[in-house]
Amino acid sequence: MLKGKHIILGICGGIAAYKSVYLLRLFIKAGAEVQVVITPAGKEFITPVTLSALSGKPVISEFFTANTGSWNSHVDLGLWADAMVIAPATASTIGKMANGIADNMLVTTYLSAKCPIFVAPAMDLDMFAHPSTQRNLQLLKEYGNLIIEPAAGELASHLVGKGRMEEPENILKAVEAYFRSTQELAGRHIIVTAGPTYEKIDPVRFIGNYSSGKMGYAIAEECAKRGAAVTLISGPVGIKAKHPSIKVVDVESAKEMHDAALAEFAACDAAIMCAAVADYTVENPATHKIKREHDELPVIRLKKNPDIAAELGARKRTGQVLVGFALETDNERVNAAEKLKRKHLDFVVLNSLNEPGAGFKTDTNKITIIDKDGTERNYGLKDKKLVAIDIIDALVEKL
Ligand code: CTP
Repeated sequence: MLKGKHIILGICGGIAAYKSVYLLRLFIKAGAEVQVVITPAGKEFITPVTLSALSGKPVISEFFTANTGSWNSHVDLGLWADAMVIAPATASTIGKMANGIADNMLVTTYLSAKCPIFVAPAMDLDMFAHPSTQRNLQLLKEYGNLIIEPAAGELASHLVGKGRMEEPENILKAVEAYFRSTQELAGRHIIVTAGPTYEKIDPVRFIGNYSSGKMGYAIAEECAKRGAAVTLISGPVGIKAKHPSIKVVDVESAKEMHDAALAEFAACDAAIMCAAVADYTVENPATHKIKREHDELPVIRLKKNPDIAAELGARKRTGQVLVGFALETDNERVNAAEKLKRKHLDFVVLNSLNEPGAGFKTDTNKITIIDKDGTERNYGLKDKKLVAIDIIDALVEKL
């Protein structure tokens, strides 16, 4: 997968820099061409000689090569790369990347790069948890960078917590997954539901939920990237689909989502039900704004919404694959398995609201895939774009 790919490996000044040597070896073994760019502080932890011996290229650290005076062009390097992987990424470099402080070769290269960027933070637990670091990481996510979440465990300080750089093998896997042959869903039509639904109370108010749509949109992008034609039936969200093979059908209520999904289902190969659909809707939404001054408190009567996934499950024909989600707070596995059966799903993606970093509004998720044959696969906490890769890998197996 990485054969012939051009990778910039950015190394910052942290104790995890020793692991970058293993990561470099893994990239080289996978057939990639690697250019190491190291910050001045990085060189305190690992010598350029080791890195250039393994990569077969001089290591770049300064804007100018001291003995020849030649200029290292961050622009050319940025254009050369198919991927840039910054591992370890320290709090300081993450801050510079987030705010465009281009005072070294690594950050200038980052700013010039047009390729996907992977960032593997490594630092002490309190530095990682600090609002400044978290805000900067959030900015990087907004720029479209993929954060390879640090693991929890014993740190160099002997404190125990989250901040340890992800193992090189897992960083390699994340990069490989990104570059995997992308056309395995060519000729397939896939429906994805995403986001919340809004159930009208009156012309200005609604019943909704906290779903951001990020997981569903990431799934739609991943399907399109692998060649599928995607119909993304989306409740009201603040994000946009990017891939040209995604047709977005904007809906508001569960009823509208239901009608749109049913209209498309017969002709699709798979449907992934990622939306957080309201279970109930308002029986008689007011046609005029409900006013504050009332003799009696207004009563909102609810009625059941259709279960879209269950209806599709009942209509599913041989060869069609139906995937559901279960976002649970209690009895997670039992509830997920029950939904799998009741809705005739092929597999269910369980995410627990009890897991920090998983569920609504976050950019990350931690999932378990439970198959109808009873097998269970657990995954670590990851960026939702990487979670989408795992889910679509499971879908491809089914198709
Ligand atoms: N779902 C759906 N239509 C609904 C409710 C849910 O298509 N009216 C889908 C969701 O998109 C998800 C799965 O069914 O893939 C499970 O959703 P969830 O809300 O967890 O399940 P419910 O059946 O609503 O059960 P409960 O709210 O009691 O947990």
